[in-house]
Amino acid sequence: MIKLENVTKTFKVKGNTVTAVDNVSLNIEKGEIFGIIGFSGAGKSTLVRCMNLLEVPTSGSVFFDDHDLVNATSKELRGYRKKIGMIFQQFNLLEQRTVLANVCYPLELEGVKKKEAKERARELLKLVDLAEKENAYPSQLSGGQKQRVAIARALATSPEVLLCDEATSALDPLTTKGVLTLIQKINKELGVTIVVITHEMKVVEQICDRVAIMNKGVVEEVGKVRDIFLNPQSETSRKLVFTGENRNDIKADKKSIRIVFDGISSTEPILANLILETQVKLNILGANTEDIGGSAYGQLLIERPDERSVEIIKKYLDKLGIKYEELDFADDEDKSDKKYSDKEKSVDDNSKINKLTKNKKSKDKEVA
Ligand SMILES: Nc1ncnc2c1ncn2[C@@H]1O[C@H](COP(=O)(O)OP(=O)(O)O)[C@@H](O)[C@H]1O
Ligand SMILES: [Mg+2]
Repeated sequence: MIKLENVTKTFKVKGNTVTAVDNVSLNIEKGEIFGIIGFSGAGKSTLVRCMNLLEVPTSGSVFFDDHDLVNATSKELRGYRKKIGMIFQQFNLLEQRTVLANVCYPLELEGVKKKEAKERARELLKLVDLAEKENAYPSQLSGGQKQRVAIARALATSPEVLLCDEATSALDPLTTKGVLTLIQKINKELGVTIVVITHEMKVVEQICDRVAIMNKGVVEEVGKVRDIFLNPQSETSRKLVFTGENRNDIKADKKSIRIVFDGISSTEPILANLILETQVKLNILGANTEDIGGSAYGQLLIERPDERSVEIIKKYLDKLGIKYEELDFADDEDKSDKKYSDKEKSVDDNSKINKLTKNKKSKDKEVA
């Protein structure tokens, strides 16, 4: 559906060249929900803006259904852009217009008759559950409602792809869930291909089929969400899986064991059995489980007990075929920060990430 080939985008800033996107190749399939995740400054927004040519790549090619966008005429490009809707973190609604008039706006630009435009807009407002708000102004709406209006507006021209750049980043967790569920519904019911840009793993987990991990302009890893969650390969994906917004409650500052379980093993009372079988007193540092595509995923972080107990625990987990790894969180905060963020912009987000590094002495067992 959207294919990027060796896309690079550089910016000139005060005589310096900033490489925001560095030789990225990606293939987004029709009908999927594709995530692009990375920390602030990774180049996600620039990359997604290359998909509809809001940014013209410095080099490389962008294809929409095999049509070359970079070499398209401006008239052709306008046609393709209609098929690619976009929503943003800050909603970008027209404050002087009512909800209905906001949704009508792209149709008016296309020369659709007023009455027809209104009919279509009302249909869309129904779809996003805001039919009763058509006469309200954006300032009278909550964040979640504003984003729903933005979604309705983006769908007005019946796009085949919807690009969502941090669409839920300004919303609280519950509202986020609702908006993500709506995006999922648009994908399922209308068959719209979705590209989700986010810095939050929980967003990817809730709705994405596949995900690309981005760091410093480079796509480091692409794969099924499940595979990356269970077995993150790059440093960036490891950090995103282990921390992220929802996981700040996990005190990841001690030597610990991370137990990963999926739909199969989570139906078992693993923790209770672990304690009963091993007779080891366990100190839980944190846990989270989520439902991804119908099966439960989760991780449990326990403080590393004495060596003998660790051996007993490992033996028990091996026996059950449960995946785990031993983590060692460095106490030197500066070191880990420097390693991951050399850009001022990223400092803000990275400060949330508990500054953890990991000694790779994990013994990963594939879940049978
Ligand atoms: N228009 C621009 N001019 C100069 N630098 C830019 C511009 N847009 C983005 N950048 C730089 O490119 C890098 C990637 O930015 P961005 O794509 O916004 O990342 P993300 O969306 O992952 O936070 C950053 O270093 C940013 O400062
Ligand atoms: Mg961005």
